[in-house]
Amino acid sequence: MPKIKINGKETEVAAGKSVLQACLDNGVFVPHYCWHPGLSPAGNCRMCLVKVSNSRKLEVSCMYPCTEGLEVTTEGPEIADARKDVLEFLLINHPLDCPICDKAGECDLQDFTYAYRQGTSRFVEPKNMRHTKDLGPNIRIWGNRCIACSRCVRFCNEISGTGELALVNRGDRSVVDVFPGVPIDNPLSLNVVDICPVGALIDKNFLYSARVWFAQETETVCASCSRGCSSLLTTLDGVIKRHIARENPDTNKYWMCDEGRLNVRYVSSDKRLKVARGTAGELGAAAQTIVRKHGSGSVAGLVSSYQTIEEIFLFKKLMMALKADSVGVLTQSRGERRTFPGGFVIEADKTPNRAFAEMALGPEAVAQGAGRVVADILAGKVRGLMLLNGIPDFAFPTDLLTAAEKLDFLGVMDIAQSPLSDKAHVLLPGAAWAEKDGTFLNVDRRVQRIRRALPPPGAARPEVELLQRALIELRARERLVSAEGVFREVTKEFAGFSDFDYTDVGVKGVALTS
Ligand code: FES
Repeated sequence: MPKIKINGKETEVAAGKSVLQACLDNGVFVPHYCWHPGLSPAGNCRMCLVKVSNSRKLEVSCMYPCTEGLEVTTEGPEIADARKDVLEFLLINHPLDCPICDKAGECDLQDFTYAYRQGTSRFVEPKNMRHTKDLGPNIRIWGNRCIACSRCVRFCNEISGTGELALVNRGDRSVVDVFPGVPIDNPLSLNVVDICPVGALIDKNFLYSARVWFAQETETVCASCSRGCSSLLTTLDGVIKRHIARENPDTNKYWMCDEGRLNVRYVSSDKRLKVARGTAGELGAAAQTIVRKHGSGSVAGLVSSYQTIEEIFLFKKLMMALKADSVGVLTQSRGERRTFPGGFVIEADKTPNRAFAEMALGPEAVAQGAGRVVADILAGKVRGLMLLNGIPDFAFPTDLLTAAEKLDFLGVMDIAQSPLSDKAHVLLPGAAWAEKDGTFLNVDRRVQRIRRALPPPGAARPEVELLQRALIELRARERLVSAEGVFREVTKEFAGFSDFDYTDVGVKGVALTS
């Protein structure tokens, strides 16, 4: 643990850390392009120059090791001049594209230029043009904007392990390209857009769709698999514009898969349910009528592991109020769990809350519960079914569709039209993941929050509200509270949840204590 001084302030740093890392860890910002905390250092942009006590020239801080007694200075006229010169060099062939560039507003080149340069250029020669073309199905490069930092190349070598990208040509002709006939098309490809410090690599799905300073950013969690990567949802005028990774060392570090980014499209699908048939009160009353007529166990329930902790908790209460014996969980898995060379994992379970469904309803309800519900309907034991789905584009098992024909009552809460929503006696449109507040328990038993970024369409309501209204109708609950209020009830009933509240869950989540 060498002791060093940063701008005169003594601090202890972990052995092996670079000066740049030590500065950033101690809240001292040093401008940089090519260095990224999730990648190996490359030392090629020269933007991170600082003064160190054991060298007469300025040093590249991302490659300079911390040694005992080192004194680092990060600001001063000499350093500012050097950064200004580096920027002049980087901008020689860079076009003044900011008004039409998707990176504008969150571009490091734009920000550092604003900080260090005076907005004039001494370069009067014709600019050297590089290629603008598609590099893959989701990525397009504007080569003239590329500063050859090689972050994207290192990502493909070190994290996805797919190696599609390379820097081709020399000097001011250097630019990122793919090998001929081999596009960048791996499951993590769009991360290179996140880490491009300028606007060279652009997500074609986001191209020209929003100026980021007009858009809203919501800190949430991806719901596309049980890992629950921390993410940022960009919305504008009530429409999702993009879904990108957010740093969280305990779940996804800095990365996110393309599937998680792109399958948010279902939120604005034409198949979304917007019109209700009946009310939540009528849903509760109709199910209760079945129970009164046919006795305990005549109503069953199916809930999906796409629903939040609060919703599964309330669904369980509803099943208890209706004296249901058969409760099953709808899940969705695809392929195998996949681990990439950089350690990033995509889970096979494509729902975000299976861990809590198992905790609340039991592993048996998750593994065989849906099959048991179908068998009980076919045997005539179950006459009414409450369904709470929410899995996007879910293919309901055919035996469930057949069994549903025999039901006296079918109550459905779902987000999209399906064969079961068509048959429902009471149909309540629910809110998609981006339209509500709540929490998920990920595969590593980490509680993480989702936040409402959009209003639900038409008559759709968050299921936390629908379920509470049904429970109030059954006199199993006194009043309606927020998702946060329901979470407080969860913490009183489930071991491991008792030590924290919504505030502690925050934006990074909390691991269960038991
Ligand atoms: Fe140090 Fe690029 S960040 S040289």
